[in-house]
Amino acid sequence: MEANTTENKKVIFSGIQPSGDLTLGNYLGALKNWVKLQDQYECYYCIVDLHAITVRQEPKNLRAKTLELLAIYVAAGIDPDKNTLFIQSHVPAHSEAQWLLNCNSYIGELSRMTQFKDKSAKYTNVSAGLLNYPVLMAVDILLYQTDLVPVGGDQKQHLELTRDLAQRFNGAYSETFKIPEPYIPPTGARIMDLQEPTKKMSKSTENPNGCIYILDPPEVIRKKIARAVTDSIGVVKYSDEQPGVQNLMSILSTITGMSYDEIEKKYEGKGYGDFKKDVAEAIVAELEPLQSKVKELLADKKQLEEIYSKGAQKANYVATKTLRKMQKKIGFIPVSR
Ligand code: TYM
Repeated sequence: MEANTTENKKVIFSGIQPSGDLTLGNYLGALKNWVKLQDQYECYYCIVDLHAITVRQEPKNLRAKTLELLAIYVAAGIDPDKNTLFIQSHVPAHSEAQWLLNCNSYIGELSRMTQFKDKSAKYTNVSAGLLNYPVLMAVDILLYQTDLVPVGGDQKQHLELTRDLAQRFNGAYSETFKIPEPYIPPTGARIMDLQEPTKKMSKSTENPNGCIYILDPPEVIRKKIARAVTDSIGVVKYSDEQPGVQNLMSILSTITGMSYDEIEKKYEGKGYGDFKKDVAEAIVAELEPLQSKVKELLADKKQLEEIYSKGAQKANYVATKTLRKMQKKIGFIPVSR
């Protein structure tokens, strides 16, 4: 991964949905990397509220979760003065550009998306938004002429579609979008459910013991890790036969930077008790400072308002420029001045 050190920094875009409570998977797969990348790149970090309404949200809850997510971004260490932090619905270009790209997307390719297949199997009334969701995600990325998109492994397919749609549009209407690359971290890209370690850790899990929420109090985190499913092999080893242990090792490695070899050596001949305790303490040490910062930030709504207002201004400027380019190439007549 290379970045420019000059004025012309490469561009990063990423986002998280303000639906439900943020998980350790969201944190380790995405947010923690965003913080690391903020000095080298020009970063747009978005709260994707338009994406959240593909399934019905309680309005009061959506408002609260949107502000909480902004507070989490800042508390995790994303500097609002260096980066553009904004709320997706504050930038109308996303919805407008989505229509344009929708008309260049095929139902076949959208209905083949794994996430669409999984989610549409779960709900009875599947919204058109759920099908078109990856087009909105593509637009999010393409409007900012993004170079790199830091996401967890579950978003890889959506990134491939984004590249396909961008190439198709460029091919039909001449060079309009930069073709973005995914950035999927070497560890932490797929944090698994603690109770069913062959399944991704997810906000919408039915068993809350399988999922650590980043605002879980320390005693809850300790309990969930103590109850995490392992196996009867009894050896701390990074092996596909031990998905539970493998998952805990990847959590520990992503937080502490220890390699799998180092972890295996450290717990040689020790069983799972000490190992699990250390995993829990590593998570607590990582999340406790973030949690108190979130509380402070949520007590100062004015400051959060300033952050998202400033972010919306910058994002609107950049996104509208690309939208105008799309409209012109498609053949729309610009409004006369
Ligand atoms: P969302 O809100 O489901 O998840 C946010 C980020 O967290 C990552 N993630 C995980 N990483 C590791 N292990 C897990 N168990 C885990 N669960 C989630 C996701 O990969 C993601 O990076 N479609 C996106 C939001 C989005 C977006 C975008 C992302 C909308 N527009 C443009 C990037 C660029 C989503 O639903 O993420």
